[in-house]
Amino acid sequence: MAAMSASGRRVFLLGALLLVAVSCHGGFGGVGVAEGLSTRYYAKTCPAVESVVRSVMARAVAADRRMGASVLRLFFHDCFVNGCDGSVLLDDAPPGFTGEKGAGANAGSARGFEVVDAAKARVEAACRATVSCADVLALAARDAVALLGGPTWPVRLGRKDARTASQAAANGNLPGPVSSLTSLLATFAAKGLSARDMTALSGAHTVGRARCATFRGRVNGGDANVNATFAAQLRRLCPAGTGGDGNLAPLDAETPNVFDNGYFRELTKQRGLLHSDQELFAAGGGGRSSSQDALVRKYAGNGAEFARDFAKAMVKMGNLAPAAGTPVEVRLNCRKPN
Ligand code: HEM
Repeated sequence: MAAMSASGRRVFLLGALLLVAVSCHGGFGGVGVAEGLSTRYYAKTCPAVESVVRSVMARAVAADRRMGASVLRLFFHDCFVNGCDGSVLLDDAPPGFTGEKGAGANAGSARGFEVVDAAKARVEAACRATVSCADVLALAARDAVALLGGPTWPVRLGRKDARTASQAAANGNLPGPVSSLTSLLATFAAKGLSARDMTALSGAHTVGRARCATFRGRVNGGDANVNATFAAQLRRLCPAGTGGDGNLAPLDAETPNVFDNGYFRELTKQRGLLHSDQELFAAGGGGRSSSQDALVRKYAGNGAEFARDFAKAMVKMGNLAPAAGTPVEVRLNCRKPN
């Protein structure tokens, strides 16, 4: 090495850089990290995009606060399945195409598609064929959080839309309500997201609702780590056996419509609605502790720290991109490829 010439050193350096680039790109379960996104991506081509999306979201959330939660969740479900590429927005087109809307986590559950359509239609009217559905959704999710009282952050833009989607990938990548902490950690790690990111992002459950079918077991004797009074109240809405599958309960009973740190306070009282929520705090029940206990306590007591971490983790999640080589476009209608 000592005798390496200047040009030799350059080649060596280039090789090392390439190696790093390739190993970074190899990626998170077929998903890469987006390159070239920028907060000023549409500064020249569609300067109105942010205000247009914001006004559509403001109207939607004023009419139905839950809509903010629903749109936020859509963004998560988009990004976790082959990156943030608008794939969750594609309608099935029988007989040839089955999309993500029918996947376990989405069927009869995902909502907010009409609001994304409305935002996209207004954006198209302002600047035709310029802004992707994936970017509209990224902005809409950011605005949803702010409109519900949560933090805001600059959204880096320039995502493109997938031309196709995979229901199997949605079933394989979206976590379910009875997941263990180990499995939640693994699911997020597969996307390059840390335990801290995972716990912060789970704080999205400070808003929105879940159906009885997702917490029936937890409130009917299936879980040790649950507040008894809380479980008894929920059993009236969600009895053992069958029936009432679609009955809704707030994910954060303390402040269901406000984006704050109430969710974490509820967890410290064993009042997480989903089994997967409560896994973040004293996962084993019976006084055993979870690796996320300290962080949950911290967020429960410090809303500003949660807000900061949540915003940071949303930016990270929003950087997930489709695997290299995936055909993409700027869709004109978010429900179907051009
Ligand atoms: C950590 C793993 C997660 C699991 C297991 C999970 C699971 C669930 C389940 C089962 C529901 C209720 C669906 C229904 O009954 O229809 C739900 C709702 C929701 N999820 Fe998650 N989720 C997770 C993470 C996230 C993340 C990272 C976000 C956003 C950043 C998010 C945002 C939401 C929102 C806002 C709702 C309420 C939606 C509404 O009211 O329409 N979730 N989640």
